[in-house]
Parts: sequence; C-alpha cells; structure tokens
Amino acid sequence: MKATSDIEALTRPFAGGPTRGKFLDWAIYRTHKLGQRIGWALGREKVRPHRQLLSSAVERLRDSFGELTCVETGCIRRADEGTDSTLAIATALGESGGTLYTFELEAEHIAVCRSVCHQVNDRIRYVEGDSRTNLRKLRADGTLKVVHLAFFDSGDDADLIWEEFRAIEDLFVPGSIVIVDDAIPPSVKGRRVKPYLHRRLDWDTRVTYTWHGMLVAQKRTGGR
Ligand SMILES: C[S@@+](CC[C@H](N)C(=O)[O-])C[C@H]1O[C@@H](n2cnc3c(N)ncnc32)[C@H](O)[C@@H]1O
Repeated sequence: MKATSDIEALTRPFAGGPTRGKFLDWAIYRTHKLGQRIGWALGREKVRPHRQLLSSAVERLRDSFGELTCVETGCIRRADEGTDSTLAIATALGESGGTLYTFELEAEHIAVCRSVCHQVNDRIRYVEGDSRTNLRKLRADGTLKVVHLAFFDSGDDADLIWEEFRAIEDLFVPGSIVIVDDAIPPSVKGRRVKPYLHRRLDWDTRVTYTWHGMLVAQKRTGGR
C-alpha cells in the first residue's frame, strides 16, 4: 500500500512546500519573506498563520479520530500576542471530548492563558513545570497514551524542542500531526527536529513560509 498523508491539503492555504533540506528551505523562505515585505509596504495585512493552521489541523484530526489528545509546549503568555495557540486548539476541539495538555514553565503565563481561554478551560489540562520532565512523566504514568497533535512552541532552543519531541515520539500514530513554530533559520526551534523528520520516510514534512516559518509534519498511513 502506498504511504499517504493529507498534509498538502492542510498547508495549501499558506505559502509553503515540502521540506527540501536546510539551505533550500531557508533560501525559499527568504524569497517569500521579501515578497511579503513588499506586500506589507503596499498595505497588505500581516497574517499570523497559527490560529488558522492549528484549528484546521484539529478539525481534520477530529474527522479521522474523533476524540483527540493534543499536546502543546508553551501556552499563551500574553493576552495580546496574537498567536493564541492554546485557544485555537481548545476551541477547535469543540464538544468532542478531546483534551489539550499544555506544558508551561511559568505560573504567570498559565494564569494569563487560563483567563484568555476561560470559555474552553474544561478541555485544557495545564501542566506547570519543565516540559521535558513532565512529558516524560505523563507518558510513563500512562496519562498520555497516544498523541494526535503536538504543537512545539516553548523555548528558543533546538535541543529543548528536540527533547520534547523525543519524549513523546512513540505516541504518534499514523495520521498524527506535528507542528513546530519558528522552524526556519535564524529561528532555531526546528533546527534538530526538522532534518530528522525530513529524513524519515514514515513522516510527510512541509514548511510554511509564513511568519517565522512553521514545520508541519504528518505521520503517514499505509506502507512505505
Ligand atoms: C512563544 S511562547 C508560547 C506562545 C504560545 N504557544 C502561543 O502561540 O501563543 C513560549 C512559552 O514557552 C514557555 N517555556 C519556555 N521553556 C519552557 C520549558 N522548558 N518548559 C515549559 N515551558 C517553557 C515560556 O515560559 C513561554 O510561555
């Protein structure tokens, strides 16, 4: 059976393409950025893709899996930041019974996020502390058995994001989606996880050239 994923459909509304390796991803991204800057100078709106991309990913996953387990590292830290990842994911979960586990170091950021998400907090589990330690812990104690969506967006540290990914890598199932924010240099979050997933035949990986570049990867269904 041919391995498939529907990542192309998910990323179609955004400028982007398949991952092509470090240099080409960077060069194509810079070219798009130049085009965007010219657009902004001509008065076009700056678009942050997070809300739309995350909502759309959750909606697609709900169609396939029903009740979802989602993971986020780094929750909303400022009410006016504009990315609103926690709110986007939890809202898109709707009344499906799915849960978002958000792993956050700072108690103050959790307080801000709770307030921003007050209408959907019944679907969110806030896990305070270091994401790596707590991801491993919730995996080991069986709280996390499967992960359908993971959004990695904590510190600007390639090793941190890599360790978060590795802590739950075995919990992804065919169809699961991984999104890493700020994945194209000079941003560093994707520096280790992007080349790893790019090489893997069981993952379909793309980058969107919007904002600081987001890695969007889906575990393929079917054979190789
Ligand atoms: C870029 S912000 C997250 C923004 C949010 N995802 C959004 O889109 O609105 C990064 C967050 O990660 C948190 N963070 C940094 N290092 C962390 C770690 N080791 N464990 C858990 N959270 C961490 C920071 O405190 C901060 O709140």
